[in-house]
Amino acid sequence: MIKLVSKSEKPLKGTVTIPSDKSISHRAVIFSALADGISTINNFSKGADPLSSLEIIKSLGVQAEFKDETTLVINSTGKLTKPSKILDCGNSGTTMRFMSGILAGQDFNSTLTGDESLSKRPMKRVIEPLTLMGAKINSKEGHAPLDITGNQLLGIEYSSKLASAQVKSCVLLAGLFANGMTRFEEPYLSRNHTEIMLKHLGADIQISGLKTSIKRSLLKPSTIDICGDISSAAFFMAAALIVPNSDIILKNVGLNPTRTGIIDVIKLMGGNIEILDSYVHSGEIAGDIRIRYSNLKGCVIEKALIPRLIDELPIIAVIATQAEGETIIKNAEDLRNKESDRIKAIVQELSKLGANIEETPDGFIVSGKTTLKGESEVECYHDHRLAMSLYVAGLICQNKISINGFEWVNISFPEFEKIFTKLLQN
Ligand code: S3P
Repeated sequence: MIKLVSKSEKPLKGTVTIPSDKSISHRAVIFSALADGISTINNFSKGADPLSSLEIIKSLGVQAEFKDETTLVINSTGKLTKPSKILDCGNSGTTMRFMSGILAGQDFNSTLTGDESLSKRPMKRVIEPLTLMGAKINSKEGHAPLDITGNQLLGIEYSSKLASAQVKSCVLLAGLFANGMTRFEEPYLSRNHTEIMLKHLGADIQISGLKTSIKRSLLKPSTIDICGDISSAAFFMAAALIVPNSDIILKNVGLNPTRTGIIDVIKLMGGNIEILDSYVHSGEIAGDIRIRYSNLKGCVIEKALIPRLIDELPIIAVIATQAEGETIIKNAEDLRNKESDRIKAIVQELSKLGANIEETPDGFIVSGKTTLKGESEVECYHDHRLAMSLYVAGLICQNKISINGFEWVNISFPEFEKIFTKLLQN
């Protein structure tokens, strides 16, 4: 699908509720499948990625049904059964990495596959610790498909070089089925939704700073309320900051501190952002945010901040084109291993629109403020976050832009355009 975006003549105004968090939705459906009994998940994401996790747990013998549009009821014995087919993770790295940890410790064999993009993404980062635990995984030189021979696992002490929540979650989930204690340490704190939810579901898990340990546990069924996705909210925050006279309120945005790097950066850049109210859903903080058009200045984003905003870096590049001075992103080399090489992709596509942006090995440097010209055809590289970032850039381009492959937005955020249209019509 090709999407034409024109410069927005109107500011963004009004109040919208942000749809369900993709990361928490994956965890809710997968962990509920490991609980013995009936679990209810409120506000489950209908993005294609969480739906891939849902299909996989069904193929593993778990009953799951939507009670209404977004309420999912899972009925499980807590025990998975041998699938009769290959398990397709689609575009979802979270599904593949989480499921590899779980399937490695089962008493049956299984195979995980994915689409073209997922088959290019590195899986060695999970195969390595799982193999140390006794897992038997055959891959195509560290890439999917993953052929997993179920085996009894043994707890390990693992110090990861990457601050990756997917790797951390994979090892902790394998630890649920392993003999002895599994300990995981990371260099910086990555998102901790797994730890919060496993605790909520009764797992024997201890967290101390960057170290987490877990013992074999059977999870208990529960009701899980999922808040809105800050990574989806980020596109509206960005648009409000850069489209003149905008003033919006975003409700029910997840505010887990391991995900709020984008808010810290907006503040650093001088953006006008306020948290109006906050509340707790199933152990996760959420709140309402007001954000307005602002005069922005560049900043440096590096080190411990990177995992707290890893998925927001493409949209931060768009914001940075409208900030005075340099915005420098460092230590973000893992951005090259996402749904696309997001460093190369965002630099190439924003350059086509007239941005002053330069690629570095571990990030990029944007010099602003620049008037984006548009009248270009841009690519999203089968990457939902690229598609949405370019849409926001299109709102401030002098001329129309056309985005090829815009349908990839459905991976995480099918409601994206509907919400934008609402904010632009107020
Ligand atoms: C995710 C973790 C992050 C993030 C991804 C979702 C998760 O990946 O980029 O979109 O749900 O745990 P890494 O853990 O590989 O950094």
